[in-house]
Amino acid sequence: MTIQLKDPSLLKTQAYINGAWVDGDKGETFAVTNPATGEHIVDVVNVGVEETRRAIEAAEAAMKSWKAKPAKERSAVLRRWYDLIMANVEDLAVLMTSEQGKVLLESRGEVAYGASFIEWFAEEGKRVYGDIIPAPQTDRRAVVVKQPVGVVAAVTPWNFPSAMITRKAGPALAVGCAIVLKPAAETPLSALALVELADRAGLPAGLFSVLPSTQSRDVGLELTTNPIVKKFTFTGSTPVGKILMKQCADTVKRTSMELGGNAPVLVFDDADLDLAVAGAIASKYRNSGQTCVCANRILVQEGVYDAFVEKFTATVKGFKVGNGLEEGVTHGPVITEKALSDIHGMVTDSVAAGAKVEVGGEPSDQGSRFYQPTVLTNVNDQMRVFREEIFGPVAPIFKFKTEEEAIAMANDTEYGLAAYIYARDVGRVWRVSEGVDFGMVGVNEVGITSDVIPFGGMKESGQGREGSKYGLDDYLEIKYICMGGLDN
Ligand code: SIN
Repeated sequence: MTIQLKDPSLLKTQAYINGAWVDGDKGETFAVTNPATGEHIVDVVNVGVEETRRAIEAAEAAMKSWKAKPAKERSAVLRRWYDLIMANVEDLAVLMTSEQGKVLLESRGEVAYGASFIEWFAEEGKRVYGDIIPAPQTDRRAVVVKQPVGVVAAVTPWNFPSAMITRKAGPALAVGCAIVLKPAAETPLSALALVELADRAGLPAGLFSVLPSTQSRDVGLELTTNPIVKKFTFTGSTPVGKILMKQCADTVKRTSMELGGNAPVLVFDDADLDLAVAGAIASKYRNSGQTCVCANRILVQEGVYDAFVEKFTATVKGFKVGNGLEEGVTHGPVITEKALSDIHGMVTDSVAAGAKVEVGGEPSDQGSRFYQPTVLTNVNDQMRVFREEIFGPVAPIFKFKTEEEAIAMANDTEYGLAAYIYARDVGRVWRVSEGVDFGMVGVNEVGITSDVIPFGGMKESGQGREGSKYGLDDYLEIKYICMGGLDN
């Protein structure tokens, strides 16, 4: 399959290491496939441990002069990168839909969303302020400076092939770090196109290397154990995050972990029901249910339960599933056949335990990676659809009676990334917002993420924050300097 791009040179198939496009040492490649059609797109270079090591060493060397530059100079390069991404939104979106499957509208949105992190951190990187602390002795001053943490290694997921990269590369580069990235093997093309644009923007060699690879275990081990790497940042599943954190422990690396979620949407009797239905649907079915902040459990108070289910199901029946590049398609495939079979397993287990299928409940006839948008009722907190991250277009709608019960149900999970509340009573809104153990809470709104907010979770959803003024801290060391001898 050929991808039609206005600028065909954005379709890259080699690794980008130390400012050069290179093949792997062993000459290996792997296939990138379109999840909607199953068609082979291209073969991409498959790198291993040796190439990873070289990228890390190049990053260490490149950082020396980059971190010494005034923030304004680094900012200018990032700004040019942002402009180039925005000038190529359409091509980047086509690449993304082709390798990831999300509909073109969502891909365009993600490319712009991803670019916004580069723009934001280009500005914010100029504001890495220190501090002067009144010292307890008259002959001293206590000074605090913030310095780049060092070489950063990153592993990013397939569900956001662009934004999860820029959310890490933006702050890292803005404060003077270098970054070595392993993008998901399912979606390397977006990452490679991004680094091509960074190169065109004038980012010096070695500061941002991109390592396409299917050897996740070996490359991940190198990235998490190489002593040159001072900070490791990961977006992905909680089980994999735990392994990577353990691997980072031996060299005591700083880590940022954006892991799984099991987001509740709490809809109370006093909610604006149409708003709640629209919000729950937008969140649940975004990227065909494949985001960490997707509504996973929809909890509805008994007084409005039936009306909510009716409106929700009617809307879902109007979805058009298909190839995201085609006009009128509202929802694309899931990423792999294994993902589809996991989703279907969760649905069939829940149905066997008594769940009722309001709509969907089966793989779709569109192709081997399409699942029918599904709504389940008569569900309970013992079912897999309550306890596990579904990561697919399946909406279980649970019933609750009281506010206390709703908060307890929401918190009955090891995850703590995002939660959403639909209610009008302002006291209730505050009580519930403060009562739920989640890093991000949307009140009467599900579109809560952007470059200016701190994205991140509590409990087993991870640690650290990405985006916003807080997003810089994860890439900075605080250094205290005691200036003594001042009375002499
Ligand atoms: C995610 O769910 O992994 C990211 C979603 C977002 O940033 O909006």
